[in-house]
Amino acid sequence: MIFIAGATGFVGGHLVDDLQSKGHRLKCLVRSERNAGQFAAKGVEVVRGDITDPGTIEGVLRPEDFVVHLVGIIEEKRGATFRGIHVEGTANLVAEAKRAGVRHFFYQSALGADKNSWSGYLKTKAEAEEIVMNSGLDYTIFRPSLIIGPWDGFTKKILDMLKLSPVVPIPGEGGAKFQPVYIKDWLRCIGATIGNPRAYRGMFDIGGPEQLTYKEFVQMLAESAGKKKPVFNVPMGLMKISALLLETVLSSPPVTSEQLRLIESDNICDPEAVEKQFGFRPTPLRDALKEFIKP
Ligand SMILES: NC(=O)c1ccc[n+]([C@@H]2O[C@H](COP(=O)([O-])OP(=O)(O)OC[C@H]3O[C@@H](n4cnc5c(N)ncnc54)[C@H](OP(=O)(O)O)[C@@H]3O)[C@@H](O)[C@H]2O)c1
Repeated sequence: MIFIAGATGFVGGHLVDDLQSKGHRLKCLVRSERNAGQFAAKGVEVVRGDITDPGTIEGVLRPEDFVVHLVGIIEEKRGATFRGIHVEGTANLVAEAKRAGVRHFFYQSALGADKNSWSGYLKTKAEAEEIVMNSGLDYTIFRPSLIIGPWDGFTKKILDMLKLSPVVPIPGEGGAKFQPVYIKDWLRCIGATIGNPRAYRGMFDIGGPEQLTYKEFVQMLAESAGKKKPVFNVPMGLMKISALLLETVLSSPPVTSEQLRLIESDNICDPEAVEKQFGFRPTPLRDALKEFIKP
């Protein structure tokens, strides 16, 4: 049985469909009533629970389970903090996995996770990694760059802007590099891990074949969507002040000041990381975009 926490998110939704199509039996941790109904209708075993509330996940795992922990947040809101979700939530799930003696524990971290980072997101991801690594469980950790594909929030925000706005603002110089990876390639990597967990123990950077700047990414998206728009650089200071103001009035601002800081520095890995570790060449970005963005 494969147990998935975070199954209702972008990555988890793709994983559920992919594993079901391959005939795997799934058990998913779900928070809301609505999602529970939808997942039960798919033929998935549903467990209602929240990783920040240990009582709700007590006894949900069995020794034969392969645990996939995808729960994470990119911004803090409505009482959900990076520490609460990434660190305490992971500690709770790891404790339940140890109690059950599960056969393997997969944790989805993030490229650039670092205990000394100024970023709450990257710092708490690294702390969660440490909890998994020190657990004594057989584990795999992925550190992916941005994952793109149908319904991913990052690409969708830019596509919405390309549709609605006559011009596209680029925060700062837009010169820092990142390395988007296509969800289908991420699925191949986790598929290999589930198929042979012993061969994929440890930590793996997961990135696409190209390193590019935010500005280049926006331009490539615009081409794929057939919506070429003038782009212009907005001074980062101004963007950050606007983001801080929006954070005080909106529960879900379009961008947070932390996210703006994150795109100021490179977030990259070896462009051949996936090929070297998983034995296949990940999809070139332009080809990936063609598959899920229709002009
Ligand atoms: N997407 C990327 O580009 C990317 C890149 C690097 C790393 N990652 C990491 O990959 C993981 C999945 O990303 P994603 O894009 O799929 O995120 P997502 O769409 O925001 O999904 C997050 C998932 O976590 C669940 N969740 C949140 N708080 C929870 C809690 N307290 N208890 C139980 N479940 C909870 C959500 O459930 P609800 O539906 O109930 O809210 C949802 O299923 C995250 O850990 C993220 O940090 C993502």
